[in-house]
Amino acid sequence: MSKAGSSIGVFDSGIGGLSILSAIRKLLPQYSYIYLADNANTPYGDKTAEEIYVLTKKSVEILFEKGCILVILACNSASACALRRLQQEWLPIHYPDRKVLGILVPTIEQVTTDTYKSLGILATKATIASGAYEREIKKRAPDMKLIEQACPGLVDLIEEGAPDEEIKEKAAVFVSMLLKKSDHPPDAILLGCTHYSFKHQLFAELIPNTIQLFDQPKVVAESLVNYLKRHQEIKQKLRDVASIECIVTGKKLKKEVIN
Ligand code: DGL
Repeated sequence: MSKAGSSIGVFDSGIGGLSILSAIRKLLPQYSYIYLADNANTPYGDKTAEEIYVLTKKSVEILFEKGCILVILACNSASACALRRLQQEWLPIHYPDRKVLGILVPTIEQVTTDTYKSLGILATKATIASGAYEREIKKRAPDMKLIEQACPGLVDLIEEGAPDEEIKEKAAVFVSMLLKKSDHPPDAILLGCTHYSFKHQLFAELIPNTIQLFDQPKVVAESLVNYLKRHQEIKQKLRDVASIECIVTGKKLKKEVIN
């Protein structure tokens, strides 16, 4: 870690986590960020939990070696499939003074605080198969009705920079599949994959406006502000120089997507 202080690492399988980074930088613009897109291995959502764990660990390690004291998994699939194991088995042995935070817990805390009786979740296959949203939401709000829909193929289109009309057409199929699963539309829909949040506006145009579109990036950013208030030992080590560095494991990100 440099003497000048440490950066906040933000990680995703590709460009999706930029939706989280952008919301974080709105609230905490003064810090230095390193964004890592493991786009050589995207999509994570079609992989097994074990594969996602191994890849996430490798990426977090790169961010630690670059001097991050804190890494946010800006990826629902990695948060659902790898976070707990990283925190319980790997960090205490290899990096006891560093932190890895996911995005499921703040999201679940907020959706169960809001007065929703029902919630639709659009996410990757891996996130849905992990059962993490269902398990954690039911613990806090046992009566909440959940309607989950996996959206295979959508991340690939977003990642490869397909035209918005093409992404919207595919997204519309999944939104309609989700809505058909219940006689009553849910009170809110959560875009439980950060790639979908990256294309938030397209989903907003597809989802009837009687259904609230839950804003995961904003909730995650607010929760990080709170976390840093409660963890002065981390906050004091952060470098107060507004900057952003992007690392990719595959294709370079286009300049216009960063920001
Ligand atoms: N953006 C990630 C998520 O939130 C991963 C998408 C993927 O690589 O399948 O789930």
